[in-house]
Amino acid sequence: MIIYLKKVDSTNEFSKTLIDRGYKKCVILADIQTKGKGRLGRCWISNYGGLYFSIIDEPLYIYPILIPVCIIETLKLGRIKFPNDIIVKNKKLSGVLIENYKNRAIIGVGINVYNKVDLDTAISLKDLNIHYDKVEILKNFLNIYNKYLEKFKKKEIFKFKILRKYKRYSCSLNKNVKLILPNKTVFGRVVDIDFEGITLRTKNGLEKYPTGEIVHLRDDDTSMY
Ligand code: BTN
Repeated sequence: MIIYLKKVDSTNEFSKTLIDRGYKKCVILADIQTKGKGRLGRCWISNYGGLYFSIIDEPLYIYPILIPVCIIETLKLGRIKFPNDIIVKNKKLSGVLIENYKNRAIIGVGINVYNKVDLDTAISLKDLNIHYDKVEILKNFLNIYNKYLEKFKKKEIFKFKILRKYKRYSCSLNKNVKLILPNKTVFGRVVDIDFEGITLRTKNGLEKYPTGEIVHLRDDDTSMY
C-alpha cells in the first residue's frame, strides 16, 4: 500500500505513527517535508520537486547495503559514498536514513529530482538534464527492491551478490579517507565494506567500524601518516 501526502513533517516520523497504529508494511510518499530528517541528526531540506518516501518493512541487516544499490539501479547513475549516499559529479543526489522502531524498519529515501538544491554540495536530476517522473522513479525503485528482497529471502547467500554490486558502485573503496566518529577521527584507506561496516587500513593496522561519516582525501594527502 502507498500512502501519499501533500505535506508532512517527515515521512520517517509519520511512519512511526503508522507503526503505532499497527501498520506492518507500507510506503509513505510526500511532496514536501517540513522537518525532513538526515543522518546524524542533520536535517534534509525537502522542498517541492524532490522525491521523499519511507518504507515500513521487517527489520533486516541488509538494508544499508541493499538500498543504495536499488537507488543506483533505478536511476542508472551515480556512485555510493559510504555508507549510503548517492553521489554524482562529487555532489549528493540522494540520501538514505534507516531507523528501527518497535521491531519494524523504516527506510527513508530522499532523491533530488527537480527541487532546488545547495549547488555547492548537492545536485538534482534536473541539474543533470535528466527528466524523470517522481512516481515512475518510486515504482521502479519498489520493483527492484521487492525483487532483491524476494531473492534474498529465498536464499540468504544472495546477499553476497548484492554486496558485490554495492562494491562495484562504491566510490569509497580503495580511497584514503577521514572517518569521523562521535568520539574520534580515524585516517585510513578503505580496504573493505560489508554488512558489518567499513574496514580501514590505518597506521595501527586494520580497523573496522560499523558506520560513520567519511571524507574522501586526495591520494597525496599526508594527513594519513
Ligand atoms: C541523509 O543523507 O542524511 C539521509 C537523508 C534521508 C532523507 C529522507 S527523505 C524521506 C525520509 N524522511 C525523512 O525525514 N528523511 C528521509
